[in-house]
Amino acid sequence: MASYIFEWLNLLLRWTHFIVGIAWIGSSFYFVWLDTSLNRPPRDPEDEGVAGDLWAVHGGGFYHAQKYHVVPEELPAPLHWFKWEAYTTWLTGFALLLVLYYVNADVYLVDSSVADISAAQAVTVSLLILLAGWVIYDFLCKSGLDDRGIALVGFLLLAVLIYGVSQIFGGRGAYMQIGAMLGTVMAANVYFVIIPGQKELVAAKERGEEPDPMYGIRGKQRSVHNNYITLPVLFVMLSNHYPMTYAHEYNWLLLITIFIVGVMVRHFFNLRNQGKFVPALPIIAVLILTLMAYAIVPRPATGRVSGKSFNAPPERVSFSAVQHVITQRCVICHSINPSHPSAPFAPNGVMLDTAAQIRQWADRIYERAVLSRTMPLANLTAITEQERELLARWYRTNANKGN
Ligand code: HEC
Repeated sequence: MASYIFEWLNLLLRWTHFIVGIAWIGSSFYFVWLDTSLNRPPRDPEDEGVAGDLWAVHGGGFYHAQKYHVVPEELPAPLHWFKWEAYTTWLTGFALLLVLYYVNADVYLVDSSVADISAAQAVTVSLLILLAGWVIYDFLCKSGLDDRGIALVGFLLLAVLIYGVSQIFGGRGAYMQIGAMLGTVMAANVYFVIIPGQKELVAAKERGEEPDPMYGIRGKQRSVHNNYITLPVLFVMLSNHYPMTYAHEYNWLLLITIFIVGVMVRHFFNLRNQGKFVPALPIIAVLILTLMAYAIVPRPATGRVSGKSFNAPPERVSFSAVQHVITQRCVICHSINPSHPSAPFAPNGVMLDTAAQIRQWADRIYERAVLSRTMPLANLTAITEQERELLARWYRTNANKGN
């Protein structure tokens, strides 16, 4: 019953996280687009304080947006703020991390073949990284380095961290840790810098003082950082569906590469909004991804994507031996009636109770138990090398031939 309740909690949190995340990233994209697309100076220069303006048509209506130098002469009411999109995305994201990755840390964070740590240690390290990520990033932004310097040092630190985390957590947990940390930096930017800065601007105006433009500049800087981080973070949120990335021996290098590609694509759009069309950026990004995909092609001759090889002679394997392995190592979760506490239902709907089901799922069994070795989950059922080899041989010789 408890795992069933967790399943619903997981669903509701994920659904909400998804919805508020769209609202947040959507408004981030919109405002960065607005800012980079403004006519500067404005086409309608009747108001002195206006720095830029823009006309747009959407949903059958025409809109005229104006951006002011620092703060307008009169503060209009109501003034719309954008913050709950960010806060609720972080809150639901953190709750999901708790419900899924911390409650099941022994399965999703710890991988004893990577590092022999306990679930409690894994959760502690994870929380410390979330905190340290923000503290170090914030320090870097206040260090006096220029934008390029911050980007360069920030990227190098991130690359080192990605490598480090990949040596502590299992691949899937390592990726999610980095995504959660970047998401935390983004939300903290809103909570600790952007919104307080805006409040300062409003407060100064209300006191009848000249607002310090520093607050606006600082907020803008953090908002631009957030904008560039979004695409890599979104990749991480999807990555748990793609063990070819997170379960690879060089998963850290793949994540660093995908981070660069995401930032390049974002940069292309930001430049284009300013009227600069640089098609080389997305072309190089696609090229890098293609090369990467080629470099990590699973090589059946050597067995798995990473590491140990199976020198499988192409002799046939009896199906009953295969079914025996699956029944022993997989059916505890992948069944119409799973008995493992972590699986109230067959995960992803994959049931392996009958011979026909095993044949139906042959491709995915091979992918997950032989190539990426991400099944059995955290190897909870202690599958042996010989058994993986047996599955490999079965797949390569008779899986598709009705045997
Ligand atoms: C402790 C529970 C557990 C055991 C044991 C287990 N799995 Fe899974 N399996 C999961 C979970 C959870 C998912 C969904 C999450 C994921 O895809 O990583 C999953 C997903 C899958 C998928 C579907 C995802 C896809 O890539 O299409 C396949 C196929 C699979 N497992 C095969 C196996 C095989 C083969 C074994 C035995 C060698 C096995 N599993 C053992 C829990 C388990």
